[in-house]
Amino acid sequence: MNARRIAFLMSSIVVACGDVDGAEAPIEAPIGARPLIDVDPAADRIEVSLVAGPAKWTYLPGKAAADVWAYRDDNDPADLGQIPGPAIVGRVGDHVTVHFRSELPEPTTIHWHGLRVAASHDGSNVSQSPVEPGGAFTYEFTLTDAGTFWFHPHLDGDVQIERGLYAPIIVRGDDEVGADADRLLVLDDVKLESTGALSTTITSLDLMVGRQGNVLLVNGARQPRLDAAVGARERWRLLNTANGTYFNVALPGRSLRVIAWDGGLLPEPYEADSLLIAPGERYELLVDLDGVEGDEIELRTLHYDRGHELPDLGPRTLATFVLGPPPTHPRPDAPARWGTVAPLPDTATRREFVLREEEPADPSAEPRFYINDEAFPLTTPVISNQGDLEIWELRNDAEMDHPFHLHGTFFQVLDAPHLGWKDTVNVPMKSTVRFAVRLDNPGEWMFHCHILEHAERGMMGVLHVLEASP
Ligand code: C2O
Ligand code: CU
Ligand code: CU
Repeated sequence: MNARRIAFLMSSIVVACGDVDGAEAPIEAPIGARPLIDVDPAADRIEVSLVAGPAKWTYLPGKAAADVWAYRDDNDPADLGQIPGPAIVGRVGDHVTVHFRSELPEPTTIHWHGLRVAASHDGSNVSQSPVEPGGAFTYEFTLTDAGTFWFHPHLDGDVQIERGLYAPIIVRGDDEVGADADRLLVLDDVKLESTGALSTTITSLDLMVGRQGNVLLVNGARQPRLDAAVGARERWRLLNTANGTYFNVALPGRSLRVIAWDGGLLPEPYEADSLLIAPGERYELLVDLDGVEGDEIELRTLHYDRGHELPDLGPRTLATFVLGPPPTHPRPDAPARWGTVAPLPDTATRREFVLREEEPADPSAEPRFYINDEAFPLTTPVISNQGDLEIWELRNDAEMDHPFHLHGTFFQVLDAPHLGWKDTVNVPMKSTVRFAVRLDNPGEWMFHCHILEHAERGMMGVLHVLEASP
């Protein structure tokens, strides 16, 4: 631990609770996140208990509750299961222990999307044996990067995540951006019957492009109305947990100030009129809610053409911010320094990954999806050495976009207008995206399309990073 970090911890402890005996200063959770109860009193240790099981969730007020699968806090008897699930909220350097138990009728795992954990605790298909119904597993890891992450099952993902198993992870660093409010906005969609129940109909289009919901969700609710202070500067953490739906978010009449990507703060924020968020991706915004008291600001998603001639549904409302009385203190200043991201050097080691889809001639058969003409689990692992710097070239030969995700590390997208860390990148149809990556984390890691129907139908592979000998 460096001196700056110690100074930060001490000042935050003093400021947060004037604590004298070294007990934990509560870490503030963003609005919209319900943190898991931490039973470890040590300031830098988090110990939580999590259950996955069948639950009821009311998506449409006034309609019947849907039978879902949800995570719940095992230390909170009042928690009957939440969508999104309860959050892990911690600081860089915290050690996390998650006692996980499954009440699901089928095997599952938990993957910590974006966290640089040890491969044995990554929860992917190749890194652990499944947690069987009634089984348990204790995950342990240290939080290494500040940002917005999430966790979800890595088996039968298109079914388990769609049924409600997903939850946020918020990690705070010592370089937090001043804001009047810090808000989590988890974007998802769900396919419901008119009764309010989850639809069990899976169309061939759902398999081809990822399940298409008919109800958009923000933090598990349809078009929520959210109270905010007029003139407030808010930090919004956006996360797309949908199986296949892309969100192209916009605030009509306002530009968006993007401050962070998957792997944390950018060295330099940038402005955008709309922001495309593919499944698995996270983006953070700094939003000034200028206006007058009583104004309503709509967060919308705009049409984006991701292929296969999906219909243009026009702008759709995600959430409405209702502006109330202003904050009682002056607007916080923008930080003098944002994130520190040193560009990775160029390298000769290049790998190519060709993404391909195969529409079945027989309409009753399922489509297949390939990386380099192989479909998981019948794939040849990619072998690298710990510390290797590589350029990965993702060539999308398909008639639709594919969001490509790599476990266990972050990468830098090349030829991009902005520098920052990503773990998931959209590869538009019929185009190529390149990224640079340093493979520091030894073990077996998965890479795959984050359209869950694609991942489960072949578009997934394994990277084996061989440990450097000491
Ligand atoms: Cu978000 Cu391999 O997963
Ligand atoms: Cu992941
Ligand atoms: Cu895909």
